[in-house]
Amino acid sequence: MKEILKIDALKTSFKTETGRINAVDGVSLSLKKGAVLGLVGESGCGKSVTALSIMRLLPQPFGRIESGSILFDGKDLATLPSSEMFKIRGRRIAMIFQEPMTALNPVHRVGNQIAEVFRLHFNEMSKKEIKNKSIELLEKVGIPAPEKRFREYPHQISGGMRQRVMIAMALAGKPDILIADEPTTALDVTIQAQILRLIKELQHEYGMSVIFITHDPGVIAMTCDDVAVMYAGRIAENAPVDKLFSEPRHPYTKGILSSIPRLSNKRKTRLPIIEGMVPPLDNLPKGCRFRNRCPDAEDACIEEPDVREIAENHRVSCFAV
Ligand SMILES: Nc1ncnc2c1ncn2[C@@H]1O[C@H](COP(=O)(O)OP(=O)(O)O)[C@@H](O)[C@H]1O
Ligand SMILES: [Mg+2]
Repeated sequence: MKEILKIDALKTSFKTETGRINAVDGVSLSLKKGAVLGLVGESGCGKSVTALSIMRLLPQPFGRIESGSILFDGKDLATLPSSEMFKIRGRRIAMIFQEPMTALNPVHRVGNQIAEVFRLHFNEMSKKEIKNKSIELLEKVGIPAPEKRFREYPHQISGGMRQRVMIAMALAGKPDILIADEPTTALDVTIQAQILRLIKELQHEYGMSVIFITHDPGVIAMTCDDVAVMYAGRIAENAPVDKLFSEPRHPYTKGILSSIPRLSNKRKTRLPIIEGMVPPLDNLPKGCRFRNRCPDAEDACIEEPDVREIAENHRVSCFAV
């Protein structure tokens, strides 16, 4: 399948009180056209910073892309002038966030916020067309009584409905790529499943490519074609989803997969996730960053492992495999 986005050796840093830290430290990834790529890893592994780098929405003034490239449609988004990026963001690449209120404006009516996306990107559309299209989109994302909701403010609707509104806004530009950053984490389990199903349906219908970010490997199995496991700013493992679940090779991948409750496990107790914590970026262990938590660590791990291709489309950064 053709690649729609190709990230190569991306490094993104933040200025902090103790100096610059690399939140993303040499990440290479590719997203195939029409496919869903999952990014998974514990909190603080650099998933959101990867997404914000693609969108060029890094917190200012402290965040910046240091090096590497993000190729999309013949352009390098890592170095594209802001004025050019403005035309891509929301129109060619759109993003939905964990907390919809970061994207929704509390003082504007829901309908107006969707209409704004149309106004911004399709200036040939008439007012009437924009209104009809907005209501159509609300209906498409499963909002009952869309004409009524159109006139309401974000605080008047539930969290699940707000998430749907944000999806509608993201879809209004008919983007080639949708980045969904933990879009269901703040929702209860039933609503989570509904939203995941919705994103998957719309992805098929619109032929979009999706980057799906989650810390929950259970969600990955439901939604993704390919998966990249991130650890402390780097890729630990990257493979097609079935391969990753059937033959996980990196000890970190094995650890996070074993935290999924299994159906065979009657009590549905969660096995403990790998002991310890992701090391702070200003105090990483020398060599492999996972070394101090790794059950398979050996002498070689004092060096930093490169990401190696161990089988077709299966990449791992670990000396032990
Ligand atoms: N605004 C910021 N300022 C400084 N450091 C940041 C900022 N945002 C993120 N970081 C650093 O980047 C790391 C990765 O963050 P993030 O990508 O948000 O993790 P996650 O995988 O949970 O999405 C954090 O652990 C933190 O060290
Ligand atoms: Mg995040």
